[in-house]
Amino acid sequence: MAYLALYRAWRPQIFRDVVGQEQIVTALQNALAQNRLTHAYLFSGPRGTGKTSVAKIIAKAVNCLEPKEGEPCNECSSCKDIKQGNFMDVVEIDAASNRGIDEIRELREKVRIMPAQGNKKVYIIDEVHMLTTEAFNALLKTLEEPPESVIFILATTELQKIPATIVSRCQTYQFRRITVKEIKQRLEQVAAANGIEISPEALDLIARRSNGGLRDALSILDQIYSYQGSVIDKKHVLDVLGLVDDAFMAELIDALLANDAGKVIRLVNTALEQGKETGQIARECVVYLRELLLYLVLGEKAQEISSYQIPREILKDQKEKAQAGNLLQALRKMMDTADRLRFSEGNRFQLELGFLEIAQILSQVEKSVPSLEQTAAKPELAPAGKNSKKIEARDGLWKKILFKVKEKRIPTHALLSQGSLLGIREGILFIGYKKKYKFHKERMEEPANREILQMAIQEILGQDLQITFIFMEDEQYNDIVVKKAIEIFGEEIIELKD
Ligand SMILES: Nc1ncnc2c1ncn2[C@@H]1O[C@H](COP(=O)(O)OP(=O)(O)OP(=O)(O)O)[C@@H](O)[C@H]1O
Ligand SMILES: [Mg+2]
Ligand SMILES: [Zn+2]
Repeated sequence: MAYLALYRAWRPQIFRDVVGQEQIVTALQNALAQNRLTHAYLFSGPRGTGKTSVAKIIAKAVNCLEPKEGEPCNECSSCKDIKQGNFMDVVEIDAASNRGIDEIRELREKVRIMPAQGNKKVYIIDEVHMLTTEAFNALLKTLEEPPESVIFILATTELQKIPATIVSRCQTYQFRRITVKEIKQRLEQVAAANGIEISPEALDLIARRSNGGLRDALSILDQIYSYQGSVIDKKHVLDVLGLVDDAFMAELIDALLANDAGKVIRLVNTALEQGKETGQIARECVVYLRELLLYLVLGEKAQEISSYQIPREILKDQKEKAQAGNLLQALRKMMDTADRLRFSEGNRFQLELGFLEIAQILSQVEKSVPSLEQTAAKPELAPAGKNSKKIEARDGLWKKILFKVKEKRIPTHALLSQGSLLGIREGILFIGYKKKYKFHKERMEEPANREILQMAIQEILGQDLQITFIFMEDEQYNDIVVKKAIEIFGEEIIELKD
């Protein structure tokens, strides 16, 4: 007998068997039981969360010869035929491969014909966002004058790509990601039924790495099962997915936080020697940094949505050493590196460079913030005359910077000019933005814009400064960073020539 992939063998056949999506399932089942289904549904949500499965259960339930409380019986000829795909009145259309007007026109004509075999014709249009504009228009006409005894179920992973005119004619349901816990339970059930022995850590890892999609979770299990056999532990999952293990990543992050370049390079080397791909290492680092950021922001609540199982002590320790702003910046930088590696897989230099850069970003916090606080404790009294001179110097420098940046790239200038130069302190140049220019600030923090600014400053001042963008309304920054920066801003800049 041909081997049936686990995710296909385990497609839920009745509402009760659907994992998660309780509200959707209850609403639909009630509507079916009371015979008040509408003529068009739109299911949206991430991959592998049950959209097509639920659509097929509906198709069976409306045509079932012996439905019970809105559930199909799965025994009668209609149910069986629908399951096999042999039922004339249930039509599945994959919009990804039938995008055009012709298919939808044909559909428009066919929907007028009464059901041949069952009660209702059910059209399931998958990946509906792929339809062309003309096809959408044709579909809209059909939805505007719905024929009797036809139900449309449109499914998509990209709700935002569906024209509002279509959305407003459908009852919409948003499928959610399946939780780690729910995925684990289902995997356990599937493993037990297939005689697969799988360790709790392995289960946990698969569940966390499938990003809320049950199909992906089952496919991963399938893959490991066919390669490894029926006894599975965490190492097999790591191998098959090409993941570096948590302990390795934790150590690497430690080295990054400590800005220990030597150790970073050594660790990267080890991973590459073990046959890990550069792109995969970068992506893993992104996942880990995200994890750390979530933990920093949400605390223990981050557990549920996390992809890693990092021991608490390690997370706590790393949390102490990191700061949200810098983590975010490091995360962006690493995503950038991962993106670049997509097109130049194997480019080890890119990866190392990325790591060294984020090591600098991450360690910047430790150095700058405490020392700023220290200075705040013993304020230097600057003579009044000197202060105004400093401000003059600052404004002059800002003009020069803006001018240089404009020469290099006008869009960057536009972003930068909404900010203002606050001052320079200990090799860090502070640029402040008002909260309403959040967009500008965030764009400026992106590597491409940041690099242009960096170059301009290098050309003007002849020195490499780190750049930190901050919100000016931020109390803490206002008190500690900004005032001090302005105060200390000065002499060395005044002395710098044009
Ligand atoms: N909510 C769920 N309950 C039980 N199994 C599920 C669920 N979601 C997905 N699965 C599993 O994943 C497989 C694919 O699910 P389904 O085709 O319904 O996903 P989908 O949401 O339509 O995904 P896509 O957007 O990729 O088409 C099912 O056969 C089943 O094994
Ligand atoms: Mg689907
Ligand atoms: Zn039936």
